[in-house]
Amino acid sequence: MTRYDATLEWPDGRTDAVAVDPRETVLDAALREGIRLPSDCRKGTCTTCVGRVIAVGGDAPDGRESAEPIDAAAAFDYRRQPEALTDGERADGYVLLCIAVPRADCRIAVGPTIRAEVGDSPWR
Ligand code: FES
Repeated sequence: MTRYDATLEWPDGRTDAVAVDPRETVLDAALREGIRLPSDCRKGTCTTCVGRVIAVGGDAPDGRESAEPIDAAAAFDYRRQPEALTDGERADGYVLLCIAVPRADCRIAVGPTIRAEVGDSPWR
């Protein structure tokens, strides 16, 4: 059974490493590990859990952000349609962690700054 490593990167630079089982979402794995990742609907409709993929597999091994957006669709399977994200947001690397199952090791920026970048956030 292959697990993938998801590294969650918070705005203050802190990171949490989570081993995600093959049929598990990133949110479920984080909660199992006691990591308080924000969520609400858990159905892909609200963006509360959104993250932005900043590295996949061997990309950016030093943890620095890639200059090019990373297509999150290449790194995740979704349990259901991610209704809260536009195609453009998905192409820019945004991913709904409550319904996303990783297909590769990945590094994901999370937190209120990322949440403010998508959807109908009043903080934009
Ligand atoms: S918790 Fe609502 S989209 Fe993930």
